[in-house]
Amino acid sequence: MRIALRGGFESRGPSGATHGVVLSWRDRARVPCSRELWCHSPVVDLLAPAFVANPHPHLHALRAEDPVHWSERHRAWVLTRHADVQRAFRTRSLSSEHTGVGDQRDPIVRVLHNWMEFRDPPDHDRLRRLVQRAFTPRVIEGLRPRIGALVDEMLAALRNAGGGDYMEAFAYPLPATVIAEMLGVPVSDQVTFRGWSEDIKGVVFGGLEDEERFQKARRGFLELEGYFRELIAHYRAAPEDNLLSALADTGSELADDEIVGTSVLLLFGGHETTSNLLSNGLVALRDFPAVRRELERDPSGIPRAIEEFLRWDGPTMLMVRLCTEDVEIGGATLRAGDRVFLHQTAANRDPARFADPDRVDPARPDLQSHVAFGYGTHYCLGAPLARLEAAIVFERILRSYPDLEVGGGALEWRRTMLARNLDRLPVGFGSRAAA
Ligand code: HEM
Repeated sequence: MRIALRGGFESRGPSGATHGVVLSWRDRARVPCSRELWCHSPVVDLLAPAFVANPHPHLHALRAEDPVHWSERHRAWVLTRHADVQRAFRTRSLSSEHTGVGDQRDPIVRVLHNWMEFRDPPDHDRLRRLVQRAFTPRVIEGLRPRIGALVDEMLAALRNAGGGDYMEAFAYPLPATVIAEMLGVPVSDQVTFRGWSEDIKGVVFGGLEDEERFQKARRGFLELEGYFRELIAHYRAAPEDNLLSALADTGSELADDEIVGTSVLLLFGGHETTSNLLSNGLVALRDFPAVRRELERDPSGIPRAIEEFLRWDGPTMLMVRLCTEDVEIGGATLRAGDRVFLHQTAANRDPARFADPDRVDPARPDLQSHVAFGYGTHYCLGAPLARLEAAIVFERILRSYPDLEVGGGALEWRRTMLARNLDRLPVGFGSRAAA
């Protein structure tokens, strides 16, 4: 049977099987719903190649047709309206403790269990309070000269090489170096870090459900855990002016497992997301050349443009929650024990919240209403750092490298549900002279 997707989107695998993305009401079959009754529901596959290549039309269709959607494929509710997602972020009965306590012998479980991101108050608040001090606007602003120097050095190297893969040469190493330096990781170990972070990404961001991915992640978590344990012991004995020394010195307030978990979270959160902002923002400048020209003319608009990049194609696509009791959202009853996807990418392009949402428009009045950094209790701790890094990067690119251009060809997005992450982003230096 040929299944027509709404708006002409069609997705058929080589065998003729559909990689179902969003089916229209008129085409969809009756499918069993988790509520143990038969219901009409669109089929959504957040890992389907057509969805990964361009999720936005599919999310528009889903939002319009079934905004609070039970996905049998993912066994989760998918919330796509801005108002529902924002409300869900604030709802206490939607818990962040969805990774499960599990087997503490498994390094994945052990480390993730100690991420504040996956803990509810009061444990969350205790973990967050101790790190918060390192992320005040004043502390972050103090990093400006060092970040500027790193950006200059890496962009100059990219130019001297005549271009290359922006992800590999710039978007990954820049935020990774910044957070590694903040933590106190010696320069000589920073390359190894990149490998571990890559290993754990498959599990943290969700993706293809295969055992090999879990094995890699398990190895990455185990090695990171061992590495941080040693480094924390080192800084406890000989403290320096860095975040690990501060964490190691929290006395009885944090257990060692919590310090290790927090260090891994900062390392991971500190660069896997920011790198996507640096790349997706560059794609936005490619797709909206008038915005780029305007920013070259008046760089004071860069902070506003960064908020638009975060809204338009933000680094993370969705956050997961678990219902601890029945809760009403957008007219549906979500039952205790149900998993919920708060779809940020969908919410950030909700036309009910943002006029003409597919357009990058740094002049829009409601810029700050995006949920790219989450909302409420778990609002991103590193947001000031990510904003500062992005501001410095785009200011330098627009001022000193006006000829930096994204290469032709289709963009290769990584197949994950949680992140909007390019595998590669070839860039070159065109004919326009650098200032
Ligand atoms: C553009 C870059 C970034 C984006 C889009 C981003 C996104 C997010 C989001 C959506 C959350 C909320 C999680 C939830 O509600 O479950 C979050 C939390 C968090 N982020 Fe970020 N993040 C970014 C950069 C950073 C950086 C640079 C750091 C640290 C160096 C960082 C550290 C954290 C931490 C520690 C949390 C947990 C906060 C809590 O649970 O209270 N993030 N981030």
